[in-house]
Amino acid sequence: MENFAQYADWAYLIGAVLFILALRGLSSPASAIMGNRYGMIGMALAVVATFAVVANLNGGAIAVQPGYALIFGAMIAGAVIGLFRARTVPMTQMPETVALMHSLVGLAAVLIAIAAVLNPTSNHGAVSRFELFVGCFVGAITFTASVFAYGKLAAKKWAKSMKGAWVKPVQVILFVGMLGFGAAYFVTEDVNHFYIMTAFALVLGYFWIGPIGGGDMPVVVSLLNSFSGWAAAGIGFTLGNSMLIIAGSLVGSSGAILSYVMCRAMNRSLFNVLFGGFGAAAAGAADDGEKKEKNYRAGSPEDAAFMMGNADSVVIVPGYGLAQARAQNAVKELGDLLKEKGVKVSYAIHPVAGRMPGHMNVLLAEADVPYEDVKEMDEINSDFAATDVVLIIGANDVVNPAAKNDPSSPIYGMPILEAQRARTVMVIKRSMNPGYAGLDNDIFYMDKTMMIFGDAKKVAEDILKGLSGGGH
Ligand code: TAP
Repeated sequence: MENFAQYADWAYLIGAVLFILALRGLSSPASAIMGNRYGMIGMALAVVATFAVVANLNGGAIAVQPGYALIFGAMIAGAVIGLFRARTVPMTQMPETVALMHSLVGLAAVLIAIAAVLNPTSNHGAVSRFELFVGCFVGAITFTASVFAYGKLAAKKWAKSMKGAWVKPVQVILFVGMLGFGAAYFVTEDVNHFYIMTAFALVLGYFWIGPIGGGDMPVVVSLLNSFSGWAAAGIGFTLGNSMLIIAGSLVGSSGAILSYVMCRAMNRSLFNVLFGGFGAAAAGAADDGEKKEKNYRAGSPEDAAFMMGNADSVVIVPGYGLAQARAQNAVKELGDLLKEKGVKVSYAIHPVAGRMPGHMNVLLAEADVPYEDVKEMDEINSDFAATDVVLIIGANDVVNPAAKNDPSSPIYGMPILEAQRARTVMVIKRSMNPGYAGLDNDIFYMDKTMMIFGDAKKVAEDILKGLSGGGH
């Protein structure tokens, strides 16, 4: 029985492999459920193995140790709250729920670091003090920043954007204060310096997120996810727990890669998202251009039904408006009916369509759209030229040709779905208003484009009615 720790290392190793398989599974909607299962088994193994290690430290006996009641009580309470939340949260509130969960990882890192600093039996050498400092300040920033991100995403009154020239100096003062007291703790080993450093980091997290616009929150949430991972890894070093180091590094690096992918898909640098005022610049660019009278052609859902019913191929491009209107089920029915009529139907997904990573994939999966019909941008772009009808539903920026053709456009360089190359383009939206980036879109004014104005769900249902009446 003394070899608990050795078995634990094996369990940790298997747990780590399961975490990697979980990430692999989560990379595609089709395998995501399996990926989640791998993650759950890995985590269960890690928890059991950690208990075994603790028992080993206590002489190999699995006797009830003082504190077990607290640990099990907290685990049960957490599991009940988590299960309830997971079952009740609507898909549209996922981003803020994720932000709230990250805040807890940050808080856990802070509490563990403080417990380790206060532990009278451990002796903190220079390396350990440095790890504690880094783990704690990253955790503290993650905690308050995630709480603020949650507030912004949930449109809470207390989470108003901070504006003004005073914000940057305040951020710098907090940052310097945090580093200064961290360094003081490192040199003097005075716990009070550690507490003050933590307080500075907590306030800094709040003031860091304050000025960032609501629309950029998905990138920020993904970055905070990455931070929470690094904080956990840092604490793993302090506790000498290899599982925490591995799991934390996996979360840290996957969150960082996701943030990078989102920024690249928006053709912006991470620095610009975190410290720039993109929304303002884009709106300015849109206002500056003199408002030329441009003509567009409007049509009815019946016109759309007639044209699609007679097409050989239709590509549906969903965007934020589809999510806003909750039109996914109507759109799926529309796709099914077209297929019944012998039309080839695909769904084209842009990596930043909507407002969170995988937004469109999740909605289409919720409506049971077959995975094989859902095509990623790189896969479908070469098909557009040979497509009869592209039906753009509540998407705008992700099909804006300015990103390809206009070097002065703020979104120039962002890869787009090349819907403009299809033989006929149809756009469902409520008005001629711009999308997230605040830009006009030339695709609306092409001769081959037909605008169908209205709420995405209502229009999709009307097209469906029109199609049920006529056909191929
Ligand atoms: P947007 O460019 O935001 O366009 C959405 C369009 O949907 C709007 O033009 C709007 O026009 C229309 N719409 C809104 N509600 C509607 C409704 N109920 N029925 C019908 N139409 C409706 O969306 P997109 O093309 O999906 O692009 C996403 C944008 O968000 C990109 O600029 C991207 O960079 C940004 N962004 C994405 C993410 C992630 S991770 N996905 C994160 C941050 C930012 P009307 O008002 O005229 O209806």
